[in-house]
Amino acid sequence: MQPTEELKAEHEGILQMLEVLERICERMESREPFLTDHLDQIVEFLKIFVDTCHHGKEEDILFPALKKAGITEKEELINELLAEHRTGRTLVKDMGVALDSLKRGTEDATFAIVDKAREYITLLKQHIQKENTDLFPIAEKRLPQDEQNELSEQFDRLEKEKIGVGRHEEFHRQMKELSETYLR
Ligand SMILES: [Fe+2]
Ligand SMILES: [Fe+2]
Repeated sequence: MQPTEELKAEHEGILQMLEVLERICERMESREPFLTDHLDQIVEFLKIFVDTCHHGKEEDILFPALKKAGITEKEELINELLAEHRTGRTLVKDMGVALDSLKRGTEDATFAIVDKAREYITLLKQHIQKENTDLFPIAEKRLPQDEQNELSEQFDRLEKEKIGVGRHEEFHRQMKELSETYLR
């Protein structure tokens, strides 16, 4: 698989989790039941799968490779994407803090969770769109095939080192379970 194909497949998984998160927000607003455990799983997914693993592949491997290949016309876009990763990181951290207070019994915390979650969903959706349509096509066109193969190998190594194979499978299992619960 080309490295950008792998990132696009991950984008699909992330979008699906964002859909689940939106449904949970709707349940929180209308005071319908939901499990805080599920929110815990999503926050963990956003921290580890999205930020550490997916954003790690982009920040540590793909973006530097584009820079090295002299694709300077996308430098501004890359800086914008990096800033969005940082904003996303802060929002997820805030969501985690609000979730902890909810678990301690602070009911008002649901407002903060819904607020931060919605901001995150909007941010990530347009971020993914920009990468898929503005950045990845140029990487596919301009990076030589052997360079792309090398990036794929580096992606594999990062995934193994940062989250481990078992954990990756576990995220996919949770994603499936949550989708069946909230997206039917
Ligand atoms: Fe990104
Ligand atoms: Fe991405």
